[in-house]
Amino acid sequence: MTSSALTAPPALLTPEGAPAISDWSMTDGKIHLNHGSYGAVPVAAQQHQLELKEAMDANPCTWFMGQAATLATTRIGIAEFLHVPVEDMALVTNASAGVTAVYNSLPFTPGAEIVTTNHTYGAVLEGAQRIARKHSGRVRIAQVPLDADAALVVELVMAQVNPQTALIVIDQITSATARRFPVVEIAAAAKKLGVPVLVDGAHAPGVLADPVPDFEGFWVGNLHKFACAPRGTAALVARGPFRRHLTPLIDSWGFPYVFPESFDHVGTQDITSWMAAATAFETIERRFGWDNFRSYAASLGNYGQHIVQDAFSALTGEDAQANVGMPVDPLRLIRLPRGLATTHEDSHAVRALISDRFDFETAITTFDGVGYLRLSTHLYNTPADYEAFAERVVPELATLAREH
Ligand SMILES: Cc1ncc(COP(=O)(O)O)c(C=O)c1O
Repeated sequence: MTSSALTAPPALLTPEGAPAISDWSMTDGKIHLNHGSYGAVPVAAQQHQLELKEAMDANPCTWFMGQAATLATTRIGIAEFLHVPVEDMALVTNASAGVTAVYNSLPFTPGAEIVTTNHTYGAVLEGAQRIARKHSGRVRIAQVPLDADAALVVELVMAQVNPQTALIVIDQITSATARRFPVVEIAAAAKKLGVPVLVDGAHAPGVLADPVPDFEGFWVGNLHKFACAPRGTAALVARGPFRRHLTPLIDSWGFPYVFPESFDHVGTQDITSWMAAATAFETIERRFGWDNFRSYAASLGNYGQHIVQDAFSALTGEDAQANVGMPVDPLRLIRLPRGLATTHEDSHAVRALISDRFDFETAITTFDGVGYLRLSTHLYNTPADYEAFAERVVPELATLAREH
């Protein structure tokens, strides 16, 4: 598809007719094309959290004595947004915390192995290595090509499973490669072998209408990414026979309880981000609509991806299209010109250059020695954001690659 064949969707407006970005507070000195890394919180949710913090500081004693009870109510609003029964879901500060809780809880035996893929988020992989080392086991990494279809992913992951496998860790939406994996199919195959599965759904809430897949096992998802909750808000869902092993990262006063109530007792921790999360979900539903976000992300993501990749291809003569097998609407991957961002260090340098010199926030990733540009789309993005990137940044990156 060429960009001339693409239609740009009209930029979204607030109900008052202002640009959608006026519901957020990001600096207008930058163009924000990296929602996927750290999210962005609507002003309404920021304000709600500030009010909660004021109430907390007005009388810390009352606040903290009632915190566990408040948290139980907070969980209900978040479970509704995720479409999961509240008794299956606990809150944690981030996907990393949810993953660590699962790693620390499962009854690994000596020699236990963890199976994952070469697309796994680096910190999640490091945690798996730590647990495997602790139990004198190892991590087996399925090498999944970027363009693998669902059937091939299942085959490659399950080929790494053996009688020593104590856990499969699989991304629902990958970070460096911005693609989906067939998590339900992998969980079904794993269940037949009695192997628990941990699904890393860090990017799924907001992106998928039903982000928690129908499977038995563990799922973690960040609410502070596409769902726009204040940062430090994530969910851990547990179903099936292995759930009884789950213990929270913070024991505090949760010891008489089991999952998920055992996670409701977090000691003297500021959980105002969790309590203001539903404000973000409700504000976006009321002012734009979550289904509307998803269809906007599909059309604008498509437009932005093609306009940028076509600009690269035209300048370099290389195909900038990255075939990711199972794509994701609001996260798009574009192949950078040969020689750029081929190592993690280089990818950080290219990202910093794009931010410092051209005022665009993006994610630059490296996979299999190839550099990629990952572009996000949210309600506040407009076609002009991607057009400006294609016009101002792509020629500079093409020149940089030639000089490399
Ligand atoms: C796939 C994936 N898993 C886990 C994480 C960790 O998220 P957090 O830093 O919020 O714990 C990220 C962060 O970007 C991610 O992309």
